[in-house]
Amino acid sequence: QTLEMELESIEKGGYEHFMLKEIFEQPRSILDSMRGRMIAESNHLMMAGIREFENKFVNANRIIIVACGTSWHAGLVAEYLIEDLARIPVEVEYASEFRYRNPIINEKDIVIAISQSGETADTLAALELAKSKGATIFGICNVVGSSIARATDAGAYTHAGPEIGVASTKAFTAQVTVLTLIAMIIGSKRGTLETTKLRELMVELETIPNKVEEALKLNEQIIGISEQYKDATNFLYLGRGYNFPVALEGALKLKEISYIHAEGYPAAEMKHGPIALIDEQMPVVVIATKDSSYEKIVSNVQEVKARKGKIIAIVTEGDTTIPAMADHVIEIPETSEHLMPLLSVIPLQLLSYHIAVMRGCNVDQPRNLAKSVTVE
Ligand code: G6P
Repeated sequence: QTLEMELESIEKGGYEHFMLKEIFEQPRSILDSMRGRMIAESNHLMMAGIREFENKFVNANRIIIVACGTSWHAGLVAEYLIEDLARIPVEVEYASEFRYRNPIINEKDIVIAISQSGETADTLAALELAKSKGATIFGICNVVGSSIARATDAGAYTHAGPEIGVASTKAFTAQVTVLTLIAMIIGSKRGTLETTKLRELMVELETIPNKVEEALKLNEQIIGISEQYKDATNFLYLGRGYNFPVALEGALKLKEISYIHAEGYPAAEMKHGPIALIDEQMPVVVIATKDSSYEKIVSNVQEVKARKGKIIAIVTEGDTTIPAMADHVIEIPETSEHLMPLLSVIPLQLLSYHIAVMRGCNVDQPRNLAKSVTVE
């Protein structure tokens, strides 16, 4: 027993929980998911799994992404990326719904299955169904040799390393990194992404590990904010554009490990329901970085403020407009909006972690949840 405990503490590398270790590993794991695939300086951008099916990708009618949980959120980010950079229509589906709905699939479709474990039963069944209809199946998995990885025609591993904490953190940022590379490759092959824009994105993507390192320095500040909101019973998370899936992911993290009810919403949809919940008791996490939807989200923040909600704002360094309205301001480094989820998710992971620890929850093994769900 003591030996086991010692072994575990060695595995945690000095961190109190696997989840915290995995959050702090992200500068490294993001780099690992790009390694060998992209070198901006020498204009190298290549993925073996894509090259094999390059024509299929370039001529695809549509891309269908199937996944569950956090991996589904990575799929939503990919929808924005692929549609914007490669101009191919993308649908993102919950694997469990897709498999039972008699979906329309044909040989010109590409199905991308995203799964950290590579063992999720619904995702595996969804891709088997798509395969039987003649679609090309591409897998994005973290666990090498897993069932989903073996069932696909081609794929790319995320190389995030083993993820032990049930709540997914580094696997998510690795999935988003790989999907960004895929969108860039297809976009450049299809000619929908200009060379100068591609170069800019490559250079910017290379700076992300350092910027994640910067974002991790927010840890102390986030401990302070967590102290103040640890007893809240509800949380609302809002974001627009590339930050909308991040709002969903932030809310999911909080639910999973702290058991606080949380909802993620596209900020503009708030007026169609969740706004009714806002009062002085309601913490509202708003991801309001400088991007093409910034002006819009400023007015959403005003709407929350007018109803006395408590605003925890994630903003781009140097912003002055949102900080003038927010109760708490968390500044993250500037980057292209295409890459922002890789940075904006970091403070949300830390917030959920610290709140859960303060509430005495079992962070690495939350009640009722499993790391991989191999049954329906
Ligand atoms: C479970 C895990 C989640 C994960 C989801 C999908 O619910 O607790 O963290 O996001 O399954 O898992 P996958 O391995 O397919 O990414």
